[in-house]
Amino acid sequence: MPNARIAGTGRAIPDVLVTNEELSRRMDTSDEWIQQRTGIVTRYWAGDGVSSTDLAAEAAGKAIAAAGIGKDDIEMIVLATLSPDHFFPGTSAFLNERLGLAGVPAMDVRCQCTGFLYSLAVANAFIRSGKYRRILLVGVEIHSTGLDISTRGRDVSVIFGDGAAALVLEATDEDRGVLSTHLHADGRYAKALWCEAPSGTHHPVRITKEMVDDGRIYAKMEGRMVFKHAVVTLPAVIDEALRHNKLSLDDIDHFLFHQANLRINEFVAGSLGIPDAKVHNNIQKYGNTSAAAIPILLDELVEAGRVREGDLLLLAGFGSGFTWGASVLRW
Ligand code: ACO
Repeated sequence: MPNARIAGTGRAIPDVLVTNEELSRRMDTSDEWIQQRTGIVTRYWAGDGVSSTDLAAEAAGKAIAAAGIGKDDIEMIVLATLSPDHFFPGTSAFLNERLGLAGVPAMDVRCQCTGFLYSLAVANAFIRSGKYRRILLVGVEIHSTGLDISTRGRDVSVIFGDGAAALVLEATDEDRGVLSTHLHADGRYAKALWCEAPSGTHHPVRITKEMVDDGRIYAKMEGRMVFKHAVVTLPAVIDEALRHNKLSLDDIDHFLFHQANLRINEFVAGSLGIPDAKVHNNIQKYGNTSAAAIPILLDELVEAGRVREGDLLLLAGFGSGFTWGASVLRW
């Protein structure tokens, strides 16, 4: 059975830098409040007319080049997003078209902030089964056009940023790559972090003037509930991943957690006693980019030459659904 290794990574960060000061001019918030609660200093938002497909295509092109392959070597596309270009078809179909990969299977994964980890698990399973040898994996979000940029929506809108990252997962006979994936969900909390409208099939009319006027088209979050569950489920799934691989925390060289909130990651790392140097965060710069957050972080580490052959990486995340998961990789 082949293993699945990461052969190349790439990211696409949009142009518009948005500081906490800029947000303070548009709603009743402050740099101090945002930094104290979330650690976020800046985020990037896509400008008018930039779509998730645009960012996904840029990141994909870089990942394919970094893998030293051509786009025609890609046998499948798996794309994670909660901010698709359209209700249907999935953004992966538009990316397939943009890359000129007619005939190559393309699927969207909708598991929000855990979307990248779910996608990794799906792609890993396809490769290990022998079905495909090279899969393009993309996490992308354009949150900015779905945020309530007013005091009404301030608890959510200060947190999120736009971005994309991609990687090429490739079959290998070497003893490296994805060692395991661990996924969970608990739908009892589906509405603790959700966006009600456009409503899908739940309402007879999918979008109404009332939904827009009431702000039901914007994400709603029970912040404390999210925090409480994240700091319990993340250590549990990290423990599950370590035990499965007969590893200890000390064996791991790099911890890459979803960038939801710096305070969540500090709490988790602190409670487990993981040294700061092993825990990587970039939410200060990008905000929370949901499905794109872990692969953007990974791409930055790879670019900086921080990840060496043989290093062990532990990825973990938590998000809307609630969903959560982890993966251990040997580089
Ligand atoms: N600026 C200023 N004040 C604000 C803002 C803001 N942006 N947002 C909320 N407030 C106010 C509230 O209105 C409230 O005012 P009140 O006391 O007059 O009613 C006050 O600040 C405190 O609000 P709380 O919601 O109690 O604030 P809390 O200390 O819980 O912090 C936060 C909110 C940061 C969202 C926190 O609950 C948290 O970190 N939760 C985790 C959620 C998270 O990180 N989500 C990330 C996205 S989800 C994911 O990726 C998994």
